[in-house]
Amino acid sequence: MFAGRLRVRYNDEIMLDELKKIEQSAREKLANMGDIDATEVLKIQFLGRKGALSLMLRAIKNLPEQERIKTGSAANRLRQELEAAFDKKLAELKKTNHESVLQREWIDVTRPGVKTPRGHLHPLTLVRRDAEAIFHSMGFVTVEGPEVESERYNFDALNIPANHPARDMWDTFWLRSNQKSQKSKVKSQNDGRLLLRTHTSPVQIRYMETHEPPFRIIAPGRVFRYEATDASHEIQFYQLEGLMVDRHVSIANFKFVIQEFLRRLFRKQNLEIRLRPSYFPFVEPGFEVDVACIVCNQKGCSVCKRSGWLEMMGAGMVHQKVFAAVGYVPAEWTGFAFGIGLDRVVMMKYNIPDIRLFHSGDLRFLKQF
Ligand code: DAH
Repeated sequence: MFAGRLRVRYNDEIMLDELKKIEQSAREKLANMGDIDATEVLKIQFLGRKGALSLMLRAIKNLPEQERIKTGSAANRLRQELEAAFDKKLAELKKTNHESVLQREWIDVTRPGVKTPRGHLHPLTLVRRDAEAIFHSMGFVTVEGPEVESERYNFDALNIPANHPARDMWDTFWLRSNQKSQKSKVKSQNDGRLLLRTHTSPVQIRYMETHEPPFRIIAPGRVFRYEATDASHEIQFYQLEGLMVDRHVSIANFKFVIQEFLRRLFRKQNLEIRLRPSYFPFVEPGFEVDVACIVCNQKGCSVCKRSGWLEMMGAGMVHQKVFAAVGYVPAEWTGFAFGIGLDRVVMMKYNIPDIRLFHSGDLRFLKQF
């Protein structure tokens, strides 16, 4: 700023005048400072090695001796005064800053802490994990299959051919996309149209196609039905499929495994079960498994509709046509299969009145588990 002017005229009056201007400007600016860092910067601008005052002192060196003494001592005095003023201001600012930090960051260590909200596992997840652990302990391994299935795995290979009335047992979401563009591709694989799997039973086929017996598997997963929803029906729900294949598997084996499973799942060592004849195309004989009502202990209640029994799952001995569909040697293998509706189990276990709560996204519901 004034360095340019200095080059034009050197004399002590001008110099003293400049010193005054510097002092005035520094004090004015300093008075308005409220920030420590900005004040440090300002200090360097005035008092630093390349600051206004240093430039002055350098210029003063070139004055005649008398003038140099006069202006030199004035400049040095001013430097001391400004230095003191800056230091004082900085000390003040540091003090108030410290005080405001104390104000702002004061901690009352006696106050109770703020609880971090914890997440909750969905009751379906809890029961699925529980069920898996029980079956794993009995030598079953978990396998998976796709939710988008083909007609062949979901129906045909399970002995449910097209136009068979048994297909009506499963109201199906068919996928439109495969009607035109994918038709030829799917047809060449001979797997039929695509759909959302209506049960986990197709995983049986996928596993048997790629594995030789003996084996024990479970396949938990989501399934879909084209149905109207109400308190006990959803368009998507969860099943757990089971399959054991070996040379001499009997209904007695099945009964033991499934009773053991249900007793441990419901934590009731004397839980009774019964098998009722039923029909599923992929098993022969087929049956329905009931458990003695866990709500009323067979005294009769609204949950078991006064019958004393609760329907738990479909099951049966694997149909030889299913073994044939996966290419096993006829009559060589025997096995049992079952399919449990997990939502129903969860509803019974936790006394949940409406299946739609599972997907309601209502945190008040989830927080209970
Ligand atoms: N897949 C059947 C359903 O969703 C349930 C079922 C019945 C599964 C009998 C089985 C079985 O493995 O053997 O209705």
